[in-house]
Amino acid sequence: MSAANSLDIAAAAAAILRGELVGMPTETVYGLAANATDAAAILRIFTAKGRPHFDPLIIHVADAEQAWTVAEPSPRARRLAILWPGPLTLILPRKAGINDLITSGLDTVGVRVPDHKIALALIRAAGVPLAAPSANRFGRISPTCAAHVWEQLDGSIAGVVDGGACRVGIESTVLRPDPLPMILRPGGVSREQLEDILGEPVAMAGREDRAESLPQQAPGMLASHYAPRIPLRLRAADEAWPTATDVARLAFSAAPAQLGGPTEVLSVRGDLAEAAMHLFAALRRLDASGAQRMVAELVPDVGLGPAINDRLRRAAGLG
Ligand code: TXA
Ligand code: MG
Repeated sequence: MSAANSLDIAAAAAAILRGELVGMPTETVYGLAANATDAAAILRIFTAKGRPHFDPLIIHVADAEQAWTVAEPSPRARRLAILWPGPLTLILPRKAGINDLITSGLDTVGVRVPDHKIALALIRAAGVPLAAPSANRFGRISPTCAAHVWEQLDGSIAGVVDGGACRVGIESTVLRPDPLPMILRPGGVSREQLEDILGEPVAMAGREDRAESLPQQAPGMLASHYAPRIPLRLRAADEAWPTATDVARLAFSAAPAQLGGPTEVLSVRGDLAEAAMHLFAALRRLDASGAQRMVAELVPDVGLGPAINDRLRRAAGLG
């Protein structure tokens, strides 16, 4: 990364207030941040990402109090705000004044408080809420370090604030709390955690539910997303790992036999949080390894497992 474009917080805040875009570290993935009150800046996000306008952006704020200036809290939302700062995005009725470009014309808005010192300092220094999708080109693998942001967005951004590698590694959980709690995108907060806090069941949206909550199916929820350049397919549970040297392999905890192509193991300890943290960087390395194809295995479906498996299925083009 060129040091000239590695911004400190003051320079990043100034760029944002000039209407420019900045790569912002968060605990989940790097965001492509812009002033949420500046329509021209918001438009720049869609252009830089190549993102269709029907996919709404989420707004990043410094605390729950600021969240309730952009979104109308419900009793459930107030209880869930105990998870902030943290990887939870709440979909709530939007307050007046929120730009239609952010919400894609919906009457709801996504809001979250990132659990990252730099992100919080940047929001406070800018003095405005920040709209920030993941800082990747549309449909591609999300960035978990500053260099990933440069790879896909150099030329469209003022710079990146380098916060090192992201601790969670997959995006926030997107939850619509009302009328009944439903996860629209599994992510860094597990369904079990949400059910513990709410004391009631939390549903996981199927394709029909997602379509119904959005003007058109949102790409973050589309079948093909998080896609490597080379084709990726999921390994069947009873299938042996391929041994051809041009097939890359993405394993959860048990390393495939040495014979074979480039291989990544997400967590030797079998730890799902560690696997999530490594997922996108491992996908990028295998994508750049020279292999012609990739085979990945799903992880256990508990805790962060559903969120990891969601990304793998979409990377394989399966919704
Ligand atoms: O962890 C994250 O959430 C990262 C970091 C940068 O904060 N951001 C992120 O943004 O993943 P993005 O734009 O890549 O994904 C936001 C997701 C999209 O799938 C979008 O469709 C959904 O949230 N979303 C946003 N507003 C919504 C709304 N009003 N109703 C339903 N879904 C919404
Ligand atoms: Mg994204």
